[in-house]
Amino acid sequence: MITPVLLAGGSGTRLWPLSRRSYPKQFSELAGTRSLFQATAERLSGEGFAAPVVLTQAAFRFIAAEQLSALGVDPAAVILEPGPRNTAPAILAAALWCAQTSPDALMLVAPSDHLIADAQAFRDAVVAAVPAARAGKIVTFGIAPDRAETGYGYLELGEGDTADGAPRALKAFIEKPGPEAAARMAQSGRHLWNAGIFLFTAPTIRAAFEAHAGALLDPVSAALAKARQDLGFLRLDPEAWSRAEDVSIDYAVMEKARNLVAMPFSGGWSDLGDWEGVRRSVPGTGDGVALSGPATAIECRDSLLRSEDPRLELVGLGLEGIIAVAMPDAVLVADKSRAQEVRRAVSALRARN
Ligand code: GDD
Ligand code: MG
Repeated sequence: MITPVLLAGGSGTRLWPLSRRSYPKQFSELAGTRSLFQATAERLSGEGFAAPVVLTQAAFRFIAAEQLSALGVDPAAVILEPGPRNTAPAILAAALWCAQTSPDALMLVAPSDHLIADAQAFRDAVVAAVPAARAGKIVTFGIAPDRAETGYGYLELGEGDTADGAPRALKAFIEKPGPEAAARMAQSGRHLWNAGIFLFTAPTIRAAFEAHAGALLDPVSAALAKARQDLGFLRLDPEAWSRAEDVSIDYAVMEKARNLVAMPFSGGWSDLGDWEGVRRSVPGTGDGVALSGPATAIECRDSLLRSEDPRLELVGLGLEGIIAVAMPDAVLVADKSRAQEVRRAVSALRARN
């Protein structure tokens, strides 16, 4: 059995004003009638998958529990992080937790803010990668790049073993390159994007942490050892947790580990991490315009117009490369090339209030 480990603790500030401190994007219905978190839980269920382990912030515990129960999913654990420490401590906590119940646990770590068009093809890719994970590899899932994206990690494929449907050896993992390196890798034919989804056993990832991010072991083990059960949630110990470095799994482990392989996946993957990602992924008009709610575009191109209030008509006229998102209490208007910087709006507002 594969244990899905769902990362649902990010605050999604690049999707302000839809994503809020109290209700981040993974729990919103950004695309379709389910939240991204629900779609992820559903994608990783069925034959071969055990009940999921969810990692999130204390503030989101009831939203997460409610959304799972609406799907009829009973999680193996909902682990609450006393504060955001990025993905490395969260994944280590999940691995230590999984090893308590099953020392050889096979874990599929998945962000909860992705869209995957062909869920069955994705499950098939996961199952095909199980032997590699059982053999001690860290399996990443790789997407053929179609642009020079600087917000992703890149997987450099090694020579040889090009059998279809099997994981490929990796030469290197490059997290969030600069624009020139990204442009070169997007063109090379030898690089894939890191989907941010990983398959490994609990002992494999523990050994990788020991080798490359050993300082996390003590605080994260202590946070779990002193964790407190609270109404079905597992609250990690705040004091121990505060000693864990704030770092992503990509920088802490993936860039350094030598036992990585990549499973290519072509069933339609997108990261809805920012508004430009949403514009690209949500089916729109032929001119690259994505509309949502009472929104109208007149002679617009490559823009996103989204009204989250049924009484708020949003009209764009002659726009090119613009993102406009209207909520009842806040409106964002931004150039689409600045989509990654939307978190600056949140910082600016926090500084003012
Ligand atoms: N539980 C928990 N706790 N989850 C977190 C935390 C945390 O402190 N911080 C982030 N997450 C969740 C986010 O909600 C998201 O689902 C996932 O972990 C990844 O974090 P992001 O902040 O979205 O990472 P990224 O998009 O910049 O980069 C990662 O994903 C890319 C693909 O989407 C990297 O793995 C890249 O290499 C990869 O290409
Ligand atoms: Mg992301």
